[in-house]
Amino acid sequence: MYSFHPLFITKQKIKPNINQNCLAMKIKKILGIILLLGIALVMTYKFVDIAPDKNLTTEQQVVKVLKFGQCAACHSHSPNLPFYANWPVIGDVIKQDAALAIREFDVNIVSEGILKNQPIDEVTLNKLEYSFSHETMPPLKYYAVHWGTTINRVEKEIMLNWIQQYRTEHHYNGLASTEFANEPVQVIPDSIPVDPAKVELGRMLYNDVRLSVDNSISCASCHDLSKGGTDNKPFSEGVGGQFGGINAPTVFNATFNFVQFWDGRAADLAAQAAGPPTNPIEMAHKSWRDIENILAADKTFAKAFTAVYPDGVTEANICNAIAEYEKTLITPNSPFDLYLKGNKEAMTAEQIKGYQLFKEKSCATCHAGVNLGGLSYEFIGTHEDYFAARGTELTEEDYGRGKQEEDVFFDHRFKTPGLRNVALTAPYFHDATQATLHDAVNAMAKHQTDYNLTDEETQMIVDYLNALTGDIPEK
Ligand code: HEC
Ligand code: HEC
Ligand code: HEC
Repeated sequence: MYSFHPLFITKQKIKPNINQNCLAMKIKKILGIILLLGIALVMTYKFVDIAPDKNLTTEQQVVKVLKFGQCAACHSHSPNLPFYANWPVIGDVIKQDAALAIREFDVNIVSEGILKNQPIDEVTLNKLEYSFSHETMPPLKYYAVHWGTTINRVEKEIMLNWIQQYRTEHHYNGLASTEFANEPVQVIPDSIPVDPAKVELGRMLYNDVRLSVDNSISCASCHDLSKGGTDNKPFSEGVGGQFGGINAPTVFNATFNFVQFWDGRAADLAAQAAGPPTNPIEMAHKSWRDIENILAADKTFAKAFTAVYPDGVTEANICNAIAEYEKTLITPNSPFDLYLKGNKEAMTAEQIKGYQLFKEKSCATCHAGVNLGGLSYEFIGTHEDYFAARGTELTEEDYGRGKQEEDVFFDHRFKTPGLRNVALTAPYFHDATQATLHDAVNAMAKHQTDYNLTDEETQMIVDYLNALTGDIPEK
């Protein structure tokens, strides 16, 4: 007797006793059927898993890839949940996935960005690139059920090529050597255009204790240029020995942040500078009018000031001058920048390996761009509950962006800190809980990524972060 399956023909045709082998035959038959079904399954799967039409524009193809991958089923503020999302158990899994997914990535920024010609930020691009190059998405449990949503080779290529093209056109600042033109981070410029006269006034004001009510504190007290632009304290000390509840970020390279403060409550540096002087626990003036009066009464200062700002010593002008000065507080020529510019000797082998790990372990998805951060609000604890692990009670500051927004979506989201000169700015995190870079890197891997780092890996990433210290202004 011949099996229907060609693979079995040669073995079976010489079998003498059919009855004896009856059971074995049956098993083989069943195995044959399973094998055929498997092949059919793979064929169907391949057939369903098509790539976008080549005649479409690249952008249209990208939108199709995201559509075929059904990214919006989870990564959207109003995900298109299927009818069974209301069933018990499976429904909970689906809703849970969607809730976790939107914490990390909003696919509409990409599709809407393309369709409506709106800018697509570097963090979104980096995350997209990461998920496609590492083939993390969609999750296995999703594509196992939703055939055709896996990302095939053609789709991967379309997406990665488009990201590279978009980055070159919109984000690459031309400073890295061509070899490094498609990195998720950028070389920092040596300087940016400023008005030198305003910078000079800003420098004086930045160091002027008269901005505090008791002439005890200037901006430089909490943002000391010789301490990496911070005070190296867990929480800053304001007038009268009062302490705030959040760690002071650096002023270095702050000009590259998309908003200012951990919670983004100031749109730019000038808006930021308006805060501390009248903040009751920082510089504690009753009003800006008081500050204007004090400074205007200083004849020498007022003369110099009105020469640059003819409409006088006003809050707006003071903040404008400070902001102009802060634009000069950038730190070029770190070993990492020199490396990206083409000097292969600028970083040690460990640091280079650390940079590779920094990208491999998804750190560069959030710590993106010129400042290696400062471009988005990110949920702290995407992979493991941060505040539960910390074990102390939640403070108001722990709500981050949520302090400014009604929607609970913003709770526990912080403006990602830039990592330049991070070796100089301990302690770390908004709550200053991480004493060393080692601790900070380990906590990041644990709470923000899918990875557990070995001691060796942590050390190499720390080595790399040490290569981010640049030229310190006014040194
Ligand atoms: C079934 C829901 C689901 C679908 C569909 C899905 N994701 Fe995700 N995605 C998640 C969840 C849940 C997480 C967070 C947990 C994790 O990383 O495993 C996540 C994480 C991510 C991240 C963060 C970094 C990473 O790679 O882990 C990115 C970026 C991402 N998804 C992109 C995509 C893209 C692009 C698609 C479409 C090709 C997609 N996702 C489809 C549920 C989904
Ligand atoms: C008493 C200490 C203190 C003083 C004085 C102070 N700051 Fe700050 N600064 C902080 C703290 C703390 C934060 C973070 C607050 C937050 O995010 O809610 C901060 C945030 C900032 C930021 C935002 C950086 C970022 O990455 O978001 C800038 C820029 C800044 N300060 C500049 C200034 C300037 C300019 C002055 C003087 C007008 C000043 N600071 C005075 C403690 C201080
Ligand atoms: C999902 C986005 C995201 C990813 C991925 C991520 N980070 Fe962060 N990182 C943040 C945010 C947000 C903070 C601020 C946390 C806080 O203050 O509570 C931060 C803080 C840090 C700090 C402390 C900076 C400071 O000045 O306090 C370091 C160092 C750091 N990250 C390194 C890393 C490394 C290394 C990795 C990869 C292992 C990584 N990050 C992955 C978002 C991210």
